Amino acid sequence: MPTREELFAAYALPDRERIRVRMNFVESADGAVTLGGRSGALGGATDRTLMQVLRAMADVVVVGAGTVRAEGYGGVGAADADLGWRREHGLADQPALAIVSGALRLEAADDVFAKAVRRPVVVTTDASARVRGALLAPVADVVPCGEAGPARPEAPLDAPAASGGGVGTVDLPAMLEQFASRGWTQVLCEGGPHLFGALLEAGVVDEVCVTIAPRFVGGEAGRIVQGAREADRRFALAGVVTDDEGFAFLRYAAV
Ligand SMILES: NC(=O)c1ccc[n+]([C@@H]2O[C@H](COP(=O)([O-])OP(=O)(O)OC[C@H]3O[C@@H](n4cnc5c(N)ncnc54)[C@H](OP(=O)(O)O)[C@@H]3O)[C@@H](O)[C@H]2O)c1
Repeated sequence: MPTREELFAAYALPDRERIRVRMNFVESADGAVTLGGRSGALGGATDRTLMQVLRAMADVVVVGAGTVRAEGYGGVGAADADLGWRREHGLADQPALAIVSGALRLEAADDVFAKAVRRPVVVTTDASARVRGALLAPVADVVPCGEAGPARPEAPLDAPAASGGGVGTVDLPAMLEQFASRGWTQVLCEGGPHLFGALLEAGVVDEVCVTIAPRFVGGEAGRIVQGAREADRRFALAGVVTDDEGFAFLRYAAV
């Protein structure tokens, strides 16, 4: 099995100066992004360690609201085992957590806030920030990033009126600039598929880390990219790690 140290070496960042967006996903060998509705059932021991290692290297972990709702995100942070590494590298003990939501259908009592190890940031549209931002202000920094654009196809038709119809698209390059202004240049995005699709469309993805689980699950689960137009977006294979359980850990870099 690759050790934690070997994973740190295999996924080392060339620098921390320029803004870098790194995606991390797990999928089955037949491309399913979930098993039983969750991604965790696809992973293995090395995958879990890799997730911690990638979090340890990040200034901010970004996740879409759909993933927060589906996976019950709460208490996201660096593992105790990696605190030493972060301190040696001059980083805060915990990476920040940013949640991207157009409609802002999040509650202050949600685990993602209640169990937060560091005050989260919620990135939303200007319209949603105006209408619902104050509800989350006690538990998070609400950061407006762009006006609501055309409704996204995946936006539920029954989005609450209180959202002000704010189901448009966050300006993702503006979000990255906001992060950089806080000193957060190394961005780890843990999904989900619609946020990945939007980041690809915005042309801001630098690296994609994909764990391929040795399982063929069939079913109706989607792919790791949703909502993006078909296009030939080329990445270079920048690394391959395998483990004794048959998992392959692929690292792709934008060219
Ligand atoms: N295998 C894996 O590694 C992995 C990783 C993550 C998630 N997943 C799975 O993926 C599924 C969730 O998929 P998903 O595509 O719904 O997840 P998602 O991308 O996290 O969530 C989509 C939601 O995020 C917000 N969002 C995303 N991009 C946005 C943008 N550009 N502007 C404004 N808001 C944006 C919107 O929230 P609002 O509706 O609040 O506006 C949107 O409805 C779950 O089953 C989860 O388990 C798997």
